[in-house]
Amino acid sequence: MNALIQQAKQEHYAIPQINVNGLLWIESILEAAEATRSPIIVGTTDKVVEFLGGYHFICTTIKNKIKTMNITIPVIVHLDHGLTVENCKKAVDAGYDSVMYDGSKLSIEENIKQTKAVVEYAHNNKVIVEGEVGAIGGNEDGIVGNVKYADLDDCIRLAQEAKLDTLAPALGSVHGKYQGEPDLGFSEMKAIQEAIDIPLVLHGASGISDEDLLTAIHLGHAKINFNTEINIAWSNQLRQTLNQDKSLFNPQQILKPSKAAMVETIKSIIYKCTSYNRV
Ligand code: 13P
Repeated sequence: MNALIQQAKQEHYAIPQINVNGLLWIESILEAAEATRSPIIVGTTDKVVEFLGGYHFICTTIKNKIKTMNITIPVIVHLDHGLTVENCKKAVDAGYDSVMYDGSKLSIEENIKQTKAVVEYAHNNKVIVEGEVGAIGGNEDGIVGNVKYADLDDCIRLAQEAKLDTLAPALGSVHGKYQGEPDLGFSEMKAIQEAIDIPLVLHGASGISDEDLLTAIHLGHAKINFNTEINIAWSNQLRQTLNQDKSLFNPQQILKPSKAAMVETIKSIIYKCTSYNRV
């Protein structure tokens, strides 16, 4: 799994992480990635894992879908914003390929200590680990924060001392909808990329311009996370379908167009991340 992200970093593209909010999301993500020959990361944020049926249920469901849909591109199942060491361990036990431990609200000492415990357990089970420094802004699935730029020394310490596989340094990005224009710290990004070997992860990518995404990719980001953009496409289409024909009640007739809207949006994300035709 690590080799896939390392390859993306070397070849200057990013593997998109798309978050799951139900079965249609899993199918849409796999369909879009297979059609465009892109490696893909299927994410479940820890705050919605219970809503999705629990670690074991959702991980098994994603892996079963990979089989029944005859998916041939590489897929990484990832826990986004793991809330506790215990939760990350549960995801590892359930069969996730990759987990994020979000210790960004802790002191750097405590963040390193907790992240280390996750890395030890995960690496023993061949699972890779993402850590976070600074704070991503916005509000999504109950993850709330004010933007706090990642400190360079903290990034170096967390990456090296915890032996991370990937690092998410918060540099002005926001979960959910942006208020005004996104303002990413590219000079800080450059300094972090030069100081740290491992691939970087960009959170809160919905609403960031294509140009800024490409700059972030060239400054070491090999994994980029999207959620809001897909959910907006899904909900806009769902509203339109229901408004167009108020007599509709057949779930498939109602849901099919919104699934198609998600597939198209995920394909456009894959093009933005330039991860198409890589496998
Ligand atoms: P957006 O919802 O802003 O796309 O962010 C997704 C994300 O970063 C998940 O970790």
